[in-house]
Amino acid sequence: MSFNITVQPSGRAFTANPEEAVLAAAIRQGVGLPYGCKDGACGSCKCKKLEGEVVHGEHQSKALSAEEAAQGFILTCCAVPQTDLVLESRQVTDESAFPIKKMPVRVAALEKKSADVMQLRLQLPATETFRYHAGQYIEFILRDGARRAYSMANAPHTQAEAPGVELHIRHMPGGKFTDHVFGAMKEKDILRVEGPFGSFYLREDSDKPIVLLASGTGFAPIKALIEQLQFKGSTRAVTLYWGGRRPQDLYLHDWVLARTAEMPQLRYVPVVSDAQPEDGWSGRTGFVHQAVLDDFADLSGHQVYACGAPIVVESARTAYSAQRGLPAEEFYADAFTSEADKHAAA
Ligand SMILES: Cc1cc2nc3c(=O)[nH]c(=O)nc-3n(C[C@H](O)[C@H](O)[C@H](O)COP(=O)(O)OP(=O)(O)OC[C@H]3O[C@@H](n4cnc5c(N)ncnc54)[C@H](O)[C@@H]3O)c2cc1C
Ligand code: FES
Repeated sequence: MSFNITVQPSGRAFTANPEEAVLAAAIRQGVGLPYGCKDGACGSCKCKKLEGEVVHGEHQSKALSAEEAAQGFILTCCAVPQTDLVLESRQVTDESAFPIKKMPVRVAALEKKSADVMQLRLQLPATETFRYHAGQYIEFILRDGARRAYSMANAPHTQAEAPGVELHIRHMPGGKFTDHVFGAMKEKDILRVEGPFGSFYLREDSDKPIVLLASGTGFAPIKALIEQLQFKGSTRAVTLYWGGRRPQDLYLHDWVLARTAEMPQLRYVPVVSDAQPEDGWSGRTGFVHQAVLDDFADLSGHQVYACGAPIVVESARTAYSAQRGLPAEEFYADAFTSEADKHAAA
């Protein structure tokens, strides 16, 4: 027996098979519920249950506290329906999702952009048309079945001139996949990926001014958003805040400066949290999410797109809505949760 799930206020409906989590069923049927880690760790898929019953699989209390659960909030990635459901999720639109494909890809180029950031270009099969929204991510399927998510750093239209996708991968020493990227991986290697995934993409039906917030390689999908805005000739005001510990962590600083010269509506605020005297840094310092709070007294008429370290994304989500009046549904984010985050909080 399957269960019917309706999402308000859009009224979009889909069904879940027995034992199937709400999010898995939504992705399978092309319904764009918001999500990030798909693993109970980031809280991006949290939404209000208006009617019905679910059972939650394992998840972290920072993603969904007992108090939130008591108020009727659920994590769709690990909530399994026990009855028909009505959910509230204002980010769900009528827009149809692109088909999710599994495909082999070839490593076309590996280029170190800083001591711990690799730019990886993947060549897609010539027979496949891979469609995605700027901001979405793909997952590598590793030999043991484990998966690792990386955001596309190029907007879809760039495939016309140079087919393939660009990723920015930060080395996490001891990490199953990134140790390989920074060790044995070489050009022409074949890997398996699946995608596109994710609800982090540009909402082009809005004309609200935009704050882009990136920490470290959280810049990857933000770069795709900037390319998309430029390609579409958008005139929306955009302010990019990009944070790193040291100036060299802003590994495409010059690329951004070149875009600001071409896009009069784009303002760039680089922020460094741990500048050393030898860096000669004279720009903004401190935490990148705090720089936005310092500059904006009111975010009630904005959209915010935030990506990167989970702590930055969560601090921004909480503070912008509580202290600056940002509507919760105008905060779009991908928190780059890793195994370390999942186990630290487990
Ligand atoms: C939606 C999404 C998009 C993402 N996009 C990007 C991107 O564009 N660029 C990017 O750089 N990253 C991105 N990430 C993060 C990426 O998916 C990986 O989590 C990250 O690269 C680490 O992968 P890994 O296999 O090297 O490390 P893992 O094997 O996952 O390990 C990560 C770290 O945790 C430690 N660790 C492993 N197991 C444990 C344990 N049991 N207990 C404690 N510590 C442990 C490891 O030593 C290592 O330091 C994204 C994540 C998500 C969810
Ligand atoms: S907690 Fe559900 S997607 Fe991260």
